[in-house]
Amino acid sequence: MPLVTTKEMFAKAYDGGYAIGAFNVNNMEIVQGITEAAKEVNAPLILQVSKGARAYANHTYLTKLVEAAIIETGLPICLHLDHGDSFETCKSCIDGGFTSVMIDASSKPFAENIEITKKVVEYAHDHGVVVEAELGALAGIEDEVQVSAEESHYTRPEEVEEFVAKTGCDSLAIAIGTSHGAYKFKPGTKPQLRFDILDEVSKKLPGFPIVLHGSSSVPQEFVKMINENGGNMPGAIGVPEDQLRQAARGAVCKINIDSDLRLAMTGTIRKFFNDHPDKFDPREYLKPARAAIKELVKHKLVDVLGCDGKA
Ligand code: G3H
Ligand code: 13P
Ligand code: ZN
Repeated sequence: MPLVTTKEMFAKAYDGGYAIGAFNVNNMEIVQGITEAAKEVNAPLILQVSKGARAYANHTYLTKLVEAAIIETGLPICLHLDHGDSFETCKSCIDGGFTSVMIDASSKPFAENIEITKKVVEYAHDHGVVVEAELGALAGIEDEVQVSAEESHYTRPEEVEEFVAKTGCDSLAIAIGTSHGAYKFKPGTKPQLRFDILDEVSKKLPGFPIVLHGSSSVPQEFVKMINENGGNMPGAIGVPEDQLRQAARGAVCKINIDSDLRLAMTGTIRKFFNDHPDKFDPREYLKPARAAIKELVKHKLVDVLGCDGKA
């Protein structure tokens, strides 16, 4: 099976009341952990690659790893550019075999966001590729861009119809209180997504797939594992999984998760070295790290996204 776009995945997810997991990939063990989990529960997948991932691992290595995962699993997999920052980055991924790209011009003024997004959509659609765009600004770090809590702002529902009509984008990422990274909410406060905004957006765009970025839930077992094995991550807090489940039942068709995989991998490796200070074979510590990613992703697919059995 070749790489697929998100068109059919999202249509089924919207109607079925579940979401597709979009997991960031940076190396072979991460690709294997995610795709082995999806294979076991028969889930469709979006594997996404950031600008930083391309700089780290190289475009060709990443696309070939994803192609290998398709051969090994036979699953419908979409290869997506995460947070494309310019027409040129999007074009390079479209020309290089991706089936979906995100153009993230959310930090630009509304009219400029429309203009850049429209240009990417025209090129992408001519090449059979779908486009995710973003309205609203999430706090946190993406590549080198740090958006402070003060600069972040929720999506304005009154803008979404015009934006989608003028750009022709295929899905829309919105800001309803999620943020990138492991420190999403102030310790001691109750994390709460703005479902009122999501409801308003979905009423204005019936049947249209909505995307949530910054949706790691920061499992405390891994934060504890990191802190107990020489790390220092006090106050790391994520999005409650029941709220993600609720979003997935509605118009949200794609949920982005990266930080949780990083925590699982790093916690497991830190513990391994604490338990085995004499070991130095990378296979010995990458194997349990890959297994931890697999277990985490299986849990997300089944208990949070509800996309198991939908491949
Ligand atoms: O939204 C950002 C993703 O977690 C990717 O992070 O840009 O460090 O690869 P990265
Ligand atoms: P997290 O940092 O919450 O995992 O978000 C990842 C993301 O949105 C990738 O685009
Ligand atoms: Zn993101």
